[in-house]
Amino acid sequence: MLEDPHARMRSLIHEAPPIFFSPCNGGTWFVTRKKAIVDITMNPEVYSNSFLAAATSGEHAGEHKAQQGFMLLPISVDPPQHTAYRAPLNQPLAAKSVAGLEPAIRAMTNELIDKVLATGRCDFFSEIAEPLPVTLFMKLAGMPTDRLAEFRHLATQATSATVDPATREATFKRIAGILAETIKARQEKREDDLISHLLDVNINGRNPTFHEMLGYSITLFLGGLETVVNALSFGVRHLARDQELQAKLRADPSLLPGAIEELLRLYGVASTPRRVMRDVVCHGVQFKEGDMVLLLLPAANYDDAAFPNPEQLIIDRKEQHQTFNTGPHRCVGLNLARLEMKVFYQEWLKRVPPFRLDPEKKPQFMGGFNLAVTSLPLVW
Ligand code: HEM
Repeated sequence: MLEDPHARMRSLIHEAPPIFFSPCNGGTWFVTRKKAIVDITMNPEVYSNSFLAAATSGEHAGEHKAQQGFMLLPISVDPPQHTAYRAPLNQPLAAKSVAGLEPAIRAMTNELIDKVLATGRCDFFSEIAEPLPVTLFMKLAGMPTDRLAEFRHLATQATSATVDPATREATFKRIAGILAETIKARQEKREDDLISHLLDVNINGRNPTFHEMLGYSITLFLGGLETVVNALSFGVRHLARDQELQAKLRADPSLLPGAIEELLRLYGVASTPRRVMRDVVCHGVQFKEGDMVLLLLPAANYDDAAFPNPEQLIIDRKEQHQTFNTGPHRCVGLNLARLEMKVFYQEWLKRVPPFRLDPEKKPQFMGGFNLAVTSLPLVW
């Protein structure tokens, strides 16, 4: 897994049954095929996210204890209530709304490139991939950008598989503390940012409570800080190993949106859990009420029943990947994520000469709910 996370995901398609059980961490069913994942996500009555909410308890309490006391909005709410909580995010994160951020993304990308270009090498992960989406997201949300390193550390700890439950709980408390400061400041005085916007939205005829504001902020914090960083790093690692594709995209940047979708497919980041609400048979497997299911989205992207020649990057592929998931919780930040990646690749490929992996230092990876990169040394 740590040698090459996606190779491991890919191998599950060939080596493991489509749905299999692991007794680790209290016991979990793993689902690796696209059709089964779509069926599960489209049936939230049976496969619920509500265990993520404050009331979480039961046999998996240890695993999810860190999230007790916090609502994670809108992700811990099932339909029909989910619709009211999701609606306030749709407009500010729509493609048209985030398009206004394009000049800022371009400027930030170029500033970061300026710092490394002449040296002929960089650790792509820490010098480019981490600061770019994190700074941008913090600007969007209205959070102080001078605390970048601290925020990134907290986001990594919150989703890492290797931290113990007590540390994770302390991490969530710390994140909530920082976000609470920002919310209170915006309650006093609105700014042009997402937190200010959310304070005034209408949820079932009222404004969000402080607790709900915290719930939105924590989800956005984790959604915005852990995902794009890794999607960019895995994508750039692919390009570093494929000089032909680099040359093709440099010669014709109009191919970028299609290539980005394929990079998102080949390098899915997040896997997401559901709790089974009643006994049910899923694609021939008996689940019991209370069972936990983990949807392995990065594996499903290699499902050969859904993607012909799944290991090949095919720029004009038509099938929709699972990286942003399906169903009511499908990623609400996907327009921002795609825009960040498009602008980044445009500038990077325009300015940085053909680059490759540093032959002296191997990339490093980490597991968890998100497949993550921790170091990506490049040379050019
Ligand atoms: C490449 C980058 C990204 C990936 C791979 C990704 C992946 C995902 C996935 C798989 C889900 C569905 C989770 C589930 O079904 O349980 C999701 C939901 C979500 N994402 Fe993203 N995400 C990305 C970027 C972002 C960004 C930039 C933001 C913030 C602006 C964001 C905010 C959210 C939120 C708030 C949800 C919950 C939506 C809901 O419950 O209705 N994501 N994301």
